[in-house]
Order: sequence, then structure tokens, then C-alpha cells
Amino acid sequence: MSEDSLPADQPLADRFGRPLRDLRISVTDRCNFRCRYCMPREVFDAGFEFLPRDEILSFEEIARLAGITAQLGVRKIRLTGGEPTLRAELPSLVRQLKAAAPGVELAMTTNGSRLTTLAGPLAEAGLDRVTVSLDTLDDATFRAMNDADFPVALVLEGIEAAEAAGLAPVKINAVVKRGVNDEGVVDLAERFKGTGAVLRFIEYMDVGVTNGWRLDDVVPARELVERIDAALPIEPLEPSYRGEVAKRWRYRDGEGELGFITSVSAPFCGDCTRARISADGSLYTCLFAVAGTDLRAPLREGADDAALAELLTGVWSEREDRYSEIRSADTEDLPRIEMSYIGG
Ligand code: GTP
Ligand code: 5AD
Ligand code: SF4
Ligand code: SF4
Repeated sequence: MSEDSLPADQPLADRFGRPLRDLRISVTDRCNFRCRYCMPREVFDAGFEFLPRDEILSFEEIARLAGITAQLGVRKIRLTGGEPTLRAELPSLVRQLKAAAPGVELAMTTNGSRLTTLAGPLAEAGLDRVTVSLDTLDDATFRAMNDADFPVALVLEGIEAAEAAGLAPVKINAVVKRGVNDEGVVDLAERFKGTGAVLRFIEYMDVGVTNGWRLDDVVPARELVERIDAALPIEPLEPSYRGEVAKRWRYRDGEGELGFITSVSAPFCGDCTRARISADGSLYTCLFAVAGTDLRAPLREGADDAALAELLTGVWSEREDRYSEIRSADTEDLPRIEMSYIGG
């Protein structure tokens, strides 16, 4: 983009002074899993209407937006979905993103099901890191949680492929739901301790409106810390940067670190520097947003970079989202956007 479309002298900040640093781009709203907490099969069934092809941003459109946001301060871009690896030719998008936003870290959050074949080509195209979702090592529990009968072993193979391709350190995301997989948290910690992979436990969140979330299903991070500490002693670490989502801990024997994402028990909106773009090109300034700003129409109507930058700047400077901090009876019934659409 041209120099004159750069923001004026002061850095872009929202109403609470939070800069725009991270961009999460959903490249598809589809997924080959049906995790109960994200895409329950009875809602996302054969009759569910996913976005039609022509409504989804092209690689060129995505790369252009990425370049503009990089000029506005974005330092990290994460590809998400749905399941991003379902998007055809993904390595080509990675290549285009690297060219449009050089110097910006490029990561991807995936369910790991296609990494055995894709890790190599993605790394070669310039992807820096991956985060793989894996909620349990117990095969029967995992198959039930993903509701697609997908085995643990293949995800573990995908993680190994990612490590072999240099997409390291690999992070592992485990969403914990009480009575479903909470008994397996120590096994997960044992499995990844000392491997270089960083395991993070995520409190089950009330994203979207289809997963039937109840507070009773949430296992607060404090409880997980106690359970893990009793088996494998751990101690807290300082955050590595402002706005880091996961609270960092390390094993006392020096065998690596792990994290806890406490969006329910200890929200982190105060430092939230994340924007999201849905697969069809809407900009969302909160994971729990009820409405976004359409970027696709101006993109397709020929808006230049300066006009798009102005649109983004306008939305970000008005931003006052802090859903997790104000989560309450008043916000419970809002028509929130589904995570598979907005991107985790
Ligand atoms: P790295 O620090 O680079 O690994 O990125 P990250 O932790 O932001 O990325 P990741 O996608 O692995 O985030 C982990 C999970 O934390 C997400 O999948 C969400 O479940 C949750 N999360 C991430 N960002 C937010 C956020 O802005 N708000 C809330 N409430 N939860 C979030
Ligand atoms: N609560 C917490 N985490 C969730 N994820 C998906 N749905 C939820 C939820 N309701 C996680 C996935 C993945 C990331 C994209 O978000 O497991 O790791
Ligand atoms: Fe798919 Fe990830 Fe949602 Fe599971 S959590 S259904 S793998 S998008
Ligand atoms: Fe950011 Fe919204 Fe999550 Fe708070 S709830 S951390 S504002 S995305």
C-alpha cells in the first residue's frame, strides 16, 4: 500500500487504548469435525448452509487486507476456521500472505487432521507455527468429543509432522469440559512434558449460541493447576508479551512449560489486541461480537488501500469490546456469532 495511506503520527488504539496487534483470519466456515462445544452435529447437519464459494474471500482479497492491517500495527496473523486446512491450496495463501505482510508472524490453529500431508508444504510456503487442538489422549473420549470418530493417533502423527517440518514450538490446545475430559488432563500434561510442545488448557467458553454452554461445565484453571501440580509440580511464569492469552506455567524440573486460558474465570479483555475477519470478509473486534463490519463489499467495489485502511481505523478506534469481563445475565441471550464462523 502507498505511504499516504499510513495512519497519522499516533499509533492506532481503541477506546481503551488497546493497539491492534493480532489478526485472526477464518479461511473457511467448514470443518471435518463436529466438536460438541463448537459445531454440534444436530445444528451443523446435512441441511446446514455453509457459505457459498463466491461469498468467501479470495486469497488475493485476504492478502490485501493482511497487508493493510500490517501497516496499521498487526504483528501476528493466525489462520483459523472452521478447519483452515479444508481450504484448497492453503500453501498458496501462506505464500501470498508472507509477500503482502513480510515480517509478520504467521500461525495457524488446526485440528491436526491433515497435517501429515500439509505440514511440509505449509512450512515451505512460509508458515511459522501451528497450534493443534487435542482435548484428550483417550481415544474413545476423543472420538466422541470430535463426533467424527477421528482417532487420537492421527492427530499425534500430525503434531509430529508439524514438528518435523519446523513449525515449532507446536502448541496444543485442550478445551476442558467437566465430566467429559477433565479426568485426562494429567495424561495430556505427561504426554507433552519435555517434548518442546506447549500444552494449553482452555476453559470451555460460551461462544456462539448452539453449544448449550453452562457454567457448571467449566473447569476453572485454578482447579486444573492444582490437579496438575499434584502430579507434576509446576510454578507460574511471567507473560512473554502484553496481551498474551495464556497464563504461563513451567514444570519445576525444567521440562518445559504449559499454559491456561482463563477466559471465563479470569478474563483478559484489558489487553485484548485481537481483530478477526470471517471467511466472508466481515471484521469483528471481539470473539463474542454480535455484528461485524463488511469489508468484502468495499473490496469488491474497488476501494483503494487508503479507503480500506480508513474503514479499519474507524472501526478499531471506536472499539470498546470487553465481553468476557462483563459476561452476565444481560449478555447471556445475545445472538452471538458461532466460533466456527468467526474463527477461534
Ligand atoms: P499464541 O500466543 O501465538 O499461541 O496465540 P493465541 O494463544 O492467541 O492463539 P490460539 O488460537 O491458540 O488461542 C487459544 C484459544 O484461546 C483460542 O482458540 C480461544 O479459545 C481462546 N482465545 C483466543 N483469543 C481469545 C480472545 O480474544 N478472547 C477470548 N475470550 N478467548 C480467546
Ligand atoms: N470454548 C473454548 N474453546 C473453544 N474452541 C472451540 N470452541 C470452544 C469453546 N466453546 C477452541 C478449539 C480450538 C480453538 C480454535 O478454539 O478447541 O482449539
Ligand atoms: Fe472443527 Fe475446531 Fe470447531 Fe472442533 S473446535 S468443530 S475442530 S472448528
Ligand atoms: Fe477480546 Fe472480546 Fe475475548 Fe475480551 S472477550 S478478550 S474483548 S475477544
